[in-house]
Amino acid sequence: MVGARPNFVKVGALHRAFETHPDFESRIVHTGQHYDRQMSSVFFEQLELPEPHKYLGVGSGTHAEQTARVMVAFERVVLDEKPDCIVVVGDVNSTLAATIVCAKLHIAVAHVEAGLRSGDRSMPEEINRVATDAISDILYVTERSGVDNLLNEGVPADHICFAGNVMIDSLVHYKAKAEATGTVARLGLERGTYALMTMHRPATVDALDQLEVLAEAIRQIDCPIVFPIHPRTKSRLEASGLFNGLLQIDTLLLTEPMGYLQFLNLMTHAGVLITDSGGVQEETTFLGVPCITLRPNTERPVTVELGTNRLLPLDPGSIRKAVNDALVGNWPGGELPPLWDGKAGGRIASHLAEYL
Ligand code: UD1
Ligand code: UDP
Repeated sequence: MVGARPNFVKVGALHRAFETHPDFESRIVHTGQHYDRQMSSVFFEQLELPEPHKYLGVGSGTHAEQTARVMVAFERVVLDEKPDCIVVVGDVNSTLAATIVCAKLHIAVAHVEAGLRSGDRSMPEEINRVATDAISDILYVTERSGVDNLLNEGVPADHICFAGNVMIDSLVHYKAKAEATGTVARLGLERGTYALMTMHRPATVDALDQLEVLAEAIRQIDCPIVFPIHPRTKSRLEASGLFNGLLQIDTLLLTEPMGYLQFLNLMTHAGVLITDSGGVQEETTFLGVPCITLRPNTERPVTVELGTNRLLPLDPGSIRKAVNDALVGNWPGGELPPLWDGKAGGRIASHLAEYL
């Protein structure tokens, strides 16, 4: 089951693993939580995923509307298809909705990327993580903190498998293709000298005062910045009247959300990432690229403990200083977290075949 941008990157790796495993016949159901070409079909094409077996077309809405629409539509699919197991990934509304449906129909649920906790229940994703894990049957974990969190919540150890990170599988698999897009050169950028930005968390982009500070931080950064804008962020910037001001900043290149390969090429050669994305924190750690995460917490602590990720408040002066530090190499190189080796999908397929 997939629904939103980060899901496609994870399921790309899982699909390859299931396709090549003799014990599985797998199908992809796309809820349609994300639906713009640059948020959805471009990922199917670039990650070589087949057309979804079913497209539920749920679209956008409030949390309750979106979650409920996925539940109603997904239940019909599951009743028709009678799968032995569903695999859900990540922490988006579609993940939780599909999990509730299957748990109540007594269909085994495998949650990939289980156990991550920010401890911050003001994030909708934290609610989705806690609730999904509580009713899933098999929990595949990306980093050790996830195992500890699940054990602390009373999940039996034999339901937990520390399998590694399928998002990194996709990165390893597509790095050469990403290089071949030549996106860095095409945008007239020089390796190691620019910042790449993504921002879409409600806590950052839904409040006007936060958005104003973000715009000021962008204005104060000295180097070129590429900012592919998530649709949530774009609509907030337009509604608040800040978007036109951003267009006037000479150092800033605003673009549509990028395809995976183009974005991966830009990320690989960036001097620094400025983000609130979960996946980007992990990908930069793997690539050894400095990452500034504008959040008070992270559910992916290994990216700070071992990797290149640093948490910063939304404060223009601190951001400007950190960007300059990163560009002159004043940043820890980091090391790879255990099992982020490009083979997590294969481990999950083997484990799941045994389990079922
Ligand atoms: C969702 C996930 C978030 C994840 C993010 C990845 C939840 C609660 N949130 O946030 O965890 O990090 O996806 O990108 O599941 N929109 C479009 N076109 C699209 C999709 C969305 O215009 O293709 C706009 C709509 O105005 C919509 C808004 O973006 O209301 C937010 O979309 P939604 O899926 O509700 O949440 P995201 O912010 O994308
Ligand atoms: N990504 C992309 N194009 C972009 C921005 C992000 O391909 O313009 C990729 C990124 O490399 C990662 C995934 O999208 O693989 C992360 O998705 P997102 O930040 O939307 O969600 P999160 O990880 O925060 O849930």
